[in-house]
Amino acid sequence: MRYDFDRIIDRRGTDCIKFDTAAEHGIPEDALPLWVADMDFPAPQPVLDALNERVRHGIFGYSDAGSDYYAAAASWFERRHGWRPEEAWLVKTPGVVYALAMAVRALTHPGDAVLIQTPVYPPFYRVIRENGRRLVENPLIYRAGRYEIDFADFERKLDESGAKLFILCSPHNPVGRVWTEAELREMARICARRGVVVVSDEIHCDFAHPGHPHSILLKAAPELAERAIVCTAPSKTFNLAGLQASNIWIPGAELRERFTAEIARCGGSELNLFGMVACRAAYAAGEEWFEQCWAYILDNFAFLRAFLAERLPQIKLVEPEGTYLAWLDCSGLGLEPAALEDLIVNKAKLWLDSGAIFGQAGAQFQRVVLACPRATLKEALERLEKAIHD
Ligand SMILES: Cc1ncc(COP(=O)(O)O)c(C=O)c1O
Repeated sequence: MRYDFDRIIDRRGTDCIKFDTAAEHGIPEDALPLWVADMDFPAPQPVLDALNERVRHGIFGYSDAGSDYYAAAASWFERRHGWRPEEAWLVKTPGVVYALAMAVRALTHPGDAVLIQTPVYPPFYRVIRENGRRLVENPLIYRAGRYEIDFADFERKLDESGAKLFILCSPHNPVGRVWTEAELREMARICARRGVVVVSDEIHCDFAHPGHPHSILLKAAPELAERAIVCTAPSKTFNLAGLQASNIWIPGAELRERFTAEIARCGGSELNLFGMVACRAAYAAGEEWFEQCWAYILDNFAFLRAFLAERLPQIKLVEPEGTYLAWLDCSGLGLEPAALEDLIVNKAKLWLDSGAIFGQAGAQFQRVVLACPRATLKEALERLEKAIHD
C-alpha cells in the first residue's frame, strides 16, 4: 500500500511530549516543535491492525511473547543487516535507556569509570552519573564539517580511568555518523585488549543514509561476542516509542546472566503487551512502510540541504550518514549560545533540541528531527529565515 507522509495529523492533546509539554519546558505555546526523536507519522498499517485486533480481544493479562516474536526480529536483522542473532541472546526490556542503565548497574560498581563519546544523547550521561559511576569522555573530533573518533584519546582515557564499560552510540546521535567497519573493529580491538565490555546502542541502525551502510557491532567484530551487548528497538524504525519495547542481544552467557540478574533485582518483568504485539507486527510486516518512510525522510534532508544552501548559508548541515536527525552547525551566525536559543525559541518560534544538552561541544548546534511532513519542515525553515533576516 502507498502511505501518505505529507498528511499533517494534529498531535496536540494526545499526551505526546513533543507537542503537549511546551509550558513545562518554558517554550511558547505557538512554537513549532521539531525536537524529541519521534515521528509525526502513524505507525505501519499492519501494526495498527495487530494492535486493534488485540484490543478487541479485551483481556490484557500477564503476557510474554513466544518464538514468533524472536523470529520476526531476527529475520529483520538478517534481511536488513546481514546479521542473525540467536534466540538465546535476547533479553526484552522496556526501552533502550533502561537497558543502558541496567548494564551500568550490572557490570560496574559505584565509583567505577564508564566511557562515552561526546557530544551524545543526554541519557548516556545520566545513566552513568545517576548511578554513582564516573563519567569519562572521549570527545569526538569535529574537523572540516565531520566528526571522527580520536583513537589515541580513546585508548588513553580507558587506560587512565581503568574503565571496564564503554557505551557506544551507533549510529551516533546527534552527530549522525555511521561508524565504518574499520572504526568499529578498531574500537573493538582496543576494548578487547583491555577486557572492556561494549554496550552498543543501535536504536537508529535502520536509518543509514545512501553510501553509509550500518554494521551491527557484533557483525563487524564477532570476536567481541563474550563482551558486547547490542541494543535494538522497533521504536525509532516504526515510530513506536510510546509502547516501550526493545530487544537487547547478549551472546555471552555470563554477561547475559549478570544483566538479567540486575533486571530481576530492580523488579523487571515481561514486556508491555502492546509493545510486544506492535514489535512483532512491525518487524514481520512493516518493511513496506519503513522503506517509504525512510525515502520520504531522505527527501526532507534534500529539501533542508537545498534550503540552507540557497537561503540560510550561515547555517551548515553536518552531512548526515545515519539517523533522521539533522545536526545544524549555527556557529556562522556568530551568536553566543543564549542569543542563539533566544533566536530559535522566541524569535523564530521553533522548538528544537539545543545542541548544548548533548554536551558543551554542542553549544553552537541545534538538532532538528526530520521525521515530519515536508510542510512542517518548510514552515520551520521559513520561520528561521525570517527571524534571522529580521
Ligand atoms: C541513541 C538513543 N538511544 C536510546 C533512545 C531512547 O530509547 P528508549 O526510548 O527505548 O529508551 C534514543 C531516543 O532518542 C536515542 O537516540
